[in-house]
Amino acid sequence: MDYFLTETQLELQKLARKIAMEKVRPVAAHYDKTGEFPWELVKLFAELDFFRIWIEEEYGGMGGGVMELVLVTEELSRACGGVALAVAASALGSFPVVISGTKQQKEKYLPDLADGKYLAAFCLTEPEAGSDAGAIKTKAVRDGDYYILNGKKHFITNGGVAKLYTVIASTDPSKGSRGATAFIVEEGTEGLSYGKEEDKMGIRASATSEVIFEDCKIPVENRIGEEGQGFIVAMKTLDKSRPGVAAQALGIAQGALDLAIDYARQREQFGQSIISFQAIQFMLADMATQIEATRALIYAISKMIDSGAKNIAKESAMCKVLASDVAMKVTTDAVQIFGGYGYMRDYPIEKFMRDAKITQIYEGTNQIQRMVIARNIIREGASQSKK
Ligand code: CAA
Repeated sequence: MDYFLTETQLELQKLARKIAMEKVRPVAAHYDKTGEFPWELVKLFAELDFFRIWIEEEYGGMGGGVMELVLVTEELSRACGGVALAVAASALGSFPVVISGTKQQKEKYLPDLADGKYLAAFCLTEPEAGSDAGAIKTKAVRDGDYYILNGKKHFITNGGVAKLYTVIASTDPSKGSRGATAFIVEEGTEGLSYGKEEDKMGIRASATSEVIFEDCKIPVENRIGEEGQGFIVAMKTLDKSRPGVAAQALGIAQGALDLAIDYARQREQFGQSIISFQAIQFMLADMATQIEATRALIYAISKMIDSGAKNIAKESAMCKVLASDVAMKVTTDAVQIFGGYGYMRDYPIEKFMRDAKITQIYEGTNQIQRMVIARNIIREGASQSKK
């Protein structure tokens, strides 16, 4: 389908597709097997300006478009959802500064992030605060010109490989989510360390670890927004970043369909290629239709966000729910088309199914996304009925 992308967007999409096929696909199995972080590819992505995409031009970026981020994430995920996450998670980690940072904070951090000199990570989740993000226990206590941070974040994407951590901590536990505040913590700050590195089912090229703060002294100028605004900063960050997770899911689904078509064409049973069987054709047709419907929604919503839409929580959640559920269905069907071979690690398809699963879980489970969508449509319904 023609989505009437701009010349720049088409060029970026073409470049990301070429890099995905020529550089990422050949090493995807290696990173999946070893769980190593793909530093070589991150270096290449920096040279190709992929880390500039979501940053405003005045800070060395390419304009801050969600659409461009979606296009690059989708194409890279077509080859490897884990590798693509090095880019998408750095966007997530930078968004609190992009959305709510001061001019000084933006001048200090965004140009280096745009150059790909280092990666960012977003630290919200804690062992006892996953879906219930307002229940965070990490504390930040004001001490003169500093805050002293204590606590533990876990499941942090880019944890241990990032140099800039945007952290949501509680400055007033008695106020729950209204007592949360956002901070920037730089790698090398005394008291910042990394704990357990997770051994994951999928997206194994991505680094996931605990991030620990022990009497970590943060200057007041590293606070993002006012005290008590941290939960809103986190929610706005996730609103802007969820279309990126959706794009990751979309790319994984498309990559699985590409492989399923190739396999069905060359696999012969009953004396003919299995692609000639209607049972296979109908599966492929459904997979392609679901993928295209998902792409249409993600692109439309990304354009809406880039046009300056303010309340995007519902639409952003819709992207993630649809794309991740489609990715799970499409990758499961792709494994089915591969039959017994699809279940074996010698073939590339089972990795797509493993990689797809996380997109239904992180950046808010799909149950939380449905809650966000439901709350918004009920609120909108109530305000419509008053008109
Ligand atoms: N934009 C702006 N403000 C928002 C908002 C939004 N999207 N959503 C909520 N708020 C505001 C509300 O208006 C409210 O403000 P007031 O206190 O002034 O009224 C305040 O935030 C609290 O909102 P709720 O009452 O709705 O909060 P809640 O406790 O019911 O929780 C939730 C809402 C949607 C469930 C939220 O907790 C949530 O999103 N949970 C999922 C967390 C999540 O996505 N975690 C993923 C972590 S990141 C990750 O996975 C990446 C990685 O690295 C692995």
